[in-house]
Amino acid sequence: METQTRSLLDHLSPERRAAIEEHVETLLSELTLEQKVGQLNQVNADFATGTAVADMDLEEGIRDGDIGSVLNFADLDEARRFQELAVEESDHGIPLVLALDVIHGYRTIFPIPLGEAASWNPEMAALSARVAATEAAADGVHWTFAPSVDVGRDPRWGRVMEAAGEDPYLTAETSKARVRGFQGDDLAADDTVLACAKHYVGYGASEAGREYNTVDISETTLREVHLPPFEACLEAGVGSVMNAFNLHERIPASSNEELVEGILRGELDFEDLVVSDWNSFGELIEHGVAGDLRDAARACIEAGSDVDMVSGAYATELVGLVEDGVVDEALVDDAVRRLLTVKGVLGLFDDPYRYFDEERRSQRILTDDHRAAAREVARESLVLLKNEADLLPVDERDDVALVGGLADSATDMLGAWRAEGDPDDVTTLRTTLTDRVESLTYVEGCDRDGAVGDEQLERAVEAVTSADVAIVAVGERYSQSGEAASRAHLDLPGDQRALLEALVETGTPVAAVLFSGRPLAIDWEADHVPALLEAWFPGVEAGPAIADVLLGEDDPSGRLPMSFPITEGQIPLYYNRLRTGRPAEDGEVDLTVAPENHAEKYLSRYLDVPNEPLYAFGHGESYTEFAYTDLTLGTDAVTAEETLSVEVTVENTGDRAGTEVVQLYVSDLVGSRARPVRELVRFDKLDIDAGDSATVSFELTAADLAFWTADETYAAEPGAFEVQVGHASDDITAVERFELVE
Ligand code: GLC
Repeated sequence: METQTRSLLDHLSPERRAAIEEHVETLLSELTLEQKVGQLNQVNADFATGTAVADMDLEEGIRDGDIGSVLNFADLDEARRFQELAVEESDHGIPLVLALDVIHGYRTIFPIPLGEAASWNPEMAALSARVAATEAAADGVHWTFAPSVDVGRDPRWGRVMEAAGEDPYLTAETSKARVRGFQGDDLAADDTVLACAKHYVGYGASEAGREYNTVDISETTLREVHLPPFEACLEAGVGSVMNAFNLHERIPASSNEELVEGILRGELDFEDLVVSDWNSFGELIEHGVAGDLRDAARACIEAGSDVDMVSGAYATELVGLVEDGVVDEALVDDAVRRLLTVKGVLGLFDDPYRYFDEERRSQRILTDDHRAAAREVARESLVLLKNEADLLPVDERDDVALVGGLADSATDMLGAWRAEGDPDDVTTLRTTLTDRVESLTYVEGCDRDGAVGDEQLERAVEAVTSADVAIVAVGERYSQSGEAASRAHLDLPGDQRALLEALVETGTPVAAVLFSGRPLAIDWEADHVPALLEAWFPGVEAGPAIADVLLGEDDPSGRLPMSFPITEGQIPLYYNRLRTGRPAEDGEVDLTVAPENHAEKYLSRYLDVPNEPLYAFGHGESYTEFAYTDLTLGTDAVTAEETLSVEVTVENTGDRAGTEVVQLYVSDLVGSRARPVRELVRFDKLDIDAGDSATVSFELTAADLAFWTADETYAAEPGAFEVQVGHASDDITAVERFELVE
């Protein structure tokens, strides 16, 4: 991995950098050990934590200099009060840094991050983060704990909703954009916030998709799958990184010196702030790697973890560890220096109240422009999974039956991690369709938990029977994904499938709109429901965005950032799988039936289900059709110092304008370690009018071919490769070979 200095200070003018460095060193020289440790103590504002700092009085702690940062404060007034205590009443007047999880919007809530990733348009992720930063900073937030860059290959894990899916490259490109959106060009500006790449590292590999479970991944998987998105965030200048809760090599990430000091600070040259996750220092005791909080504090400060989120380990133990000669005070100085540098770069020493302005706040939150941005991002996040007989788009002159409580549920549209989102701000699908179709009949169809009562069913069947078309809103409730929301069964909760069966039985064409925070196991629906539109949780503009696509104003342009399984038994399931020694794919064997002979049986397969997903990574339909032609490589032999140009022509062969996501994969045919069957290395999203064509050009370098080789370096190895271009990871329409030569 290429290395370069990566510090927030690198982005400043020499004068500003020198001024901050001087001020930080002056402060460090004046602070007592107790006051230094106080800076590293992060406490929670809105509820008791039950940890070692649970009984610390927040205001007293700030006044006494025992607190350096606060998370989960309520609003501008509370933020101002805390800051005044720190600046005007503590010994050195060091401002607090104020933090909140602003994950997919602050008050104007955008689609959940997995939905934003489904847009395959990093500009949408950047736009969402930019708006979120503008609103959060206007309400006193300095630091958001986002983006989550956890690569997730297991949809049972609820936090797949919070990142960008199963692929390292799509996650890297989306996360870079989020960092730039949050941090802008100047962290001292009043509309930017410090971003935080999380959870370092490997949290998405929680075994069996069970929250907070063991993670046990190889060094190769760590370096090829889970680390690249973090490096991408460092390249984008992210100013903080958050420890994960999980283990790596049986050592918790918070106290894992190899991960933090070794890779993050050593190899990747990250010089800025590392913050723990919630009580992750304290959880070393539960992991059984620390006998007490003192031992936990020692291990974490020695690993290079700087700020202690609510565990109280540093606040209660670090002074004693230094005074007893167990921990070198220089380690504390290094951590405090990094935190004070962040406060300097945020401009808090120049003006600690720069983010508190009522007038600016009133002008910047939930504006029409922000709502329009949320609608644009939501529209681009929608994935048309199927559309038999071109059932969609719906004609607004049709008699439409709208079924399903999710179509009328404002709160569910906000998804998990909703910051200051307010259901009253949401325009639901029911509200929008009521305005935009001539005849709409709405029936609830089922309860919030998916239960379908006899009367509900009867009314739904009656409404659908007499309609020209039915739109049925089904899926999860928002609280069934996000943190601490793992699910072992991924079917539609409750009796929603039975409801769909009855409605399909009426003979009226049915289009289902799926709301979920994860891929669902919807094999029956895929076989029997003519049209399926995955909407994730689309945010405040859910209704207008979905209607724009359902009514054909916009072409559905989302593509899946994660594979949808046929059944949970296939999980973990991801497109960039290894070949195995007995591959059974690519159409050689009919995997939908049990093996009939020796040759079909002794392969990497199941007896009872296919290997393939229900819907593959990159899948998504349009209202038109696209054809790929003229895939051309600049050469068929390239050295590691050269670039390889790739061109392909995409034609809109349908009768209406549409949007295509051109996907470029590479397959390394032979390596010193087994290589995935294909890996996404580029993509581009194009609007193409009916009958028009567009030629797309890409430039590949050796970095796109690199992997963790058998001699433990990250490099490209000479040999044969395939360039594979197509509409989805399972819909490759053009392949060309080339050699990487010495
Ligand atoms: C949570 C999450 C983390 C979040 C933090 C503060 O447990 O793991 O992503 O930023 O605590 O809310």
